[in-house]
Amino acid sequence: MKLLRSLLEELEDLLLALQSTRNVTGNKRMPNRRKKKKQLVLKIQMFIEKVLSRLIADPSLVMHTAINLPFLNLLSSNAENTPEGPPWDIKSVLQTGKDKTKKTLSMTTSITIPSACDFHLHLRQDEMMRMVTPKVQEGGVSLAYIMPNLQPPIKTTAEALAYKAELEALAPNVTFYMTLYLSPELTPEEVRKAAKAGIAGVKSYPRGVTTNSESGIENYEVYYPVFKAMEEEGLVLNLHGEIPSDAEKDICVMNAEERFLPQLEKIHRAFPKLKIVLEHATTKAAVDMVKSLGDTVGCSITVHHLQLIVDDWAGQAHHFCKPVAKYPHDRDALRDIVKSGHPRFFLGTDSAPHPIAAKEGPKSNAGVFTTPLVLPYLAKIFEEIGCLDKLENFACHYGRQFYGLSHKQGFEDKKVTLVKESNTVVPAKFEISSTEDLGVVVPFYANKDIGWKITSNFY
Ligand code: NCD
Ligand code: ZN
Repeated sequence: MKLLRSLLEELEDLLLALQSTRNVTGNKRMPNRRKKKKQLVLKIQMFIEKVLSRLIADPSLVMHTAINLPFLNLLSSNAENTPEGPPWDIKSVLQTGKDKTKKTLSMTTSITIPSACDFHLHLRQDEMMRMVTPKVQEGGVSLAYIMPNLQPPIKTTAEALAYKAELEALAPNVTFYMTLYLSPELTPEEVRKAAKAGIAGVKSYPRGVTTNSESGIENYEVYYPVFKAMEEEGLVLNLHGEIPSDAEKDICVMNAEERFLPQLEKIHRAFPKLKIVLEHATTKAAVDMVKSLGDTVGCSITVHHLQLIVDDWAGQAHHFCKPVAKYPHDRDALRDIVKSGHPRFFLGTDSAPHPIAAKEGPKSNAGVFTTPLVLPYLAKIFEEIGCLDKLENFACHYGRQFYGLSHKQGFEDKKVTLVKESNTVVPAKFEISSTEDLGVVVPFYANKDIGWKITSNFY
């Protein structure tokens, strides 16, 4: 590891030296400089070959470097497929001095990253839970932060632990972190007990805004003693950031999130040390608000909100979720923040399966199902928006860093390799039960070619 680091430093020096010759080599009357440049190019070429051969011998080195250079990601992604060397021409890149990174990115055909962390996931109960939970790993996710909106909701430490045991039995390789449902029954004493038992957070649903939110909350101030205990115990407050629709006040699904934001700011000001996550952000206003607040405020972003706008769910039940996808400029803001690599914005899929009958019935249930293909969807989207090099931090590191959570022992270093391959078509449906006729769940982008698939998982 030390060796790789010092090699990188060496590379940086060489590139700087090359840069300084480039600044003056336009002048033909400086043959010495041209010679020096030629020598440097040769040195860098040899140097890159040296690094590459080490990476080919052990691609996991890239995983373990704290240095997250797009350059290195590219090397690692191509090294595995082409042991004879990189598919691009290092010599010409160096000699022309042109930044061909973009071109190279579009040539990326495989990536290897650590298995991902999903910081907002609905795994349901009974038969649906038994179908969905094993799919967490299939989607390339090894750490999952579980929502408590079951029927009835998970309100106590004992219930959360029993639920966790069920999930662990279904997906023994996955590290689960549990949450409690914020309700009047939640006391500061229960918060302390929950913290001791390793419960990671408390989820708040405003009353009536989404699936199973009938016992959600109406007024945050009555919960201040609970928030105080959470702040002291290090539990995270997960906010579903919408206020209920109210025609009199001109509030509907399109502005429900934006109108909620003053509430987020207020809670943060009252409890600056309390970690708060604004869940599944959908608006530019939300991105701007989270950015403007302190380091204790984070934000989860879903797969589908990076992809959809209002036109996509109006008339398409399988794209309907809460909060709903908004305007094109809102989606741009989500994409921009992800592209910028802001460490307080991370993956929380909000994958929320419903039987097809509930989605396509007279009143569609809110929720998009992405669990079985989380990383392939993300690879497609990040490639399309031109930031494949940002995928690893967004999906694997930033969330864990914000929460300060780790994988369970023995599962810290699992990797996933994704390969770009056309005709990678999303299944039309998943049967809820193999024995009873309980219907099917239709996944996000059913029947579409998403162009990326996982070839090695959890290795
Ligand atoms: C979620 C569900 O179905 O549980 N639905 C959704 O559209 N996101 C609930 C939620 O997180 O709002
Ligand atoms: Zn959710």
